[in-house]
Amino acid sequence: MKKYKFKSPGRINLIGEHTDYNDGYVMPGAIDKYTYITFEESDRFEAYSTHFDQRLNFSLNEEKEEAEWLNYVKGALLYTTKYVQKEINPWKIEISGDLPLGAGLSSSASLMVGVVYGLCKVEGFEISRRQIANIAHKAENEFMGVNCGIMDQYIVAMGKENTFMFIDTLTKEIKYVPAENFPQMFVIDSGVKHELASSEYNKRRMECSQAEDIMGIKLRQMDLNTLEKNKEKLGETLYKRAFHVVSENDRVLKAIDAIEKSDWENLGRLLYSSHESLRDFYEISTQEIDFIIEELKKNDDIFGARMIGGGFGGSILALSNGDSSEEISRIRGKYEDKFGVKMKVYTVRLSGGVQELQRM
Ligand code: GLA
Repeated sequence: MKKYKFKSPGRINLIGEHTDYNDGYVMPGAIDKYTYITFEESDRFEAYSTHFDQRLNFSLNEEKEEAEWLNYVKGALLYTTKYVQKEINPWKIEISGDLPLGAGLSSSASLMVGVVYGLCKVEGFEISRRQIANIAHKAENEFMGVNCGIMDQYIVAMGKENTFMFIDTLTKEIKYVPAENFPQMFVIDSGVKHELASSEYNKRRMECSQAEDIMGIKLRQMDLNTLEKNKEKLGETLYKRAFHVVSENDRVLKAIDAIEKSDWENLGRLLYSSHESLRDFYEISTQEIDFIIEELKKNDDIFGARMIGGGFGGSILALSNGDSSEEISRIRGKYEDKFGVKMKVYTVRLSGGVQELQRM
């Protein structure tokens, strides 16, 4: 029986949060925490998740399965077959990996892009990485019912080692931004993810399009001066949402410049102001996350940090000059005393996109 193994990365987003569904700019990077996926020839569809220690049979139809993790696999397979309009062979698929689930590091995009990519390789479908990202994105939107933007799938499919990927989500243009000698990056998982994350995510999307309708102009085309003139028309909440998006797009452009000049201090400041904007204008941070950020700010070695991902919990990305591990242990202790939750810390490096590892 032929067997193939693939690895698919998670991602961080350096800057450009909640801009990808507003035709804006983002700058994610793939990280060296992975989902591993094996495909083995079989006489039926079967999937095993080491994480949930569950082995399940399934059929390739539109019906949802009880096990949510299996729906990601099924959705990815189904939407690939729909795209190529071909039948596929049955496969035994095994999922494992060291990418934490539900920590805001895109474990779902990692899995779905990984399965689409894997299926293309084992079935011999010639599909570009960009198209693989689009298929996984459509499957996550339609099959999983998650209204996400394209950032996660793009970076998982097309990331490059030691490189950030600037995406203009309006034109879908990509620019690779090399980040050699980049500061040490820590991901701090707050261990807290609030239930309302997905409903509030959808609410923010709606608020942004309402703001655009009222002003008659896309947020992407706006500058802060024009926005200021529309302040009364928008009312406080919509003004704040729009302010975040317009200022965040500007910060992404400034961040490219800072990386190109290796101006880490300035880059760090941009991360802190992105966080403040997510906290005060987009209003999607949490007290746990804000506590960690304030503690990080007290340390000179750490010069930038912000919450990443959809919001209402999840992870923080921090940039550091040194190893900062002592400092982070101190914060970990204080955090646990205050909230009774353990934060988890990972050092991450920028990795390549999804790839084949082995054929056996
Ligand atoms: C989630 C979504 C992304 C993006 C971020 C917020 O991670 O999957 O598409 O919208 O939230 O920047």
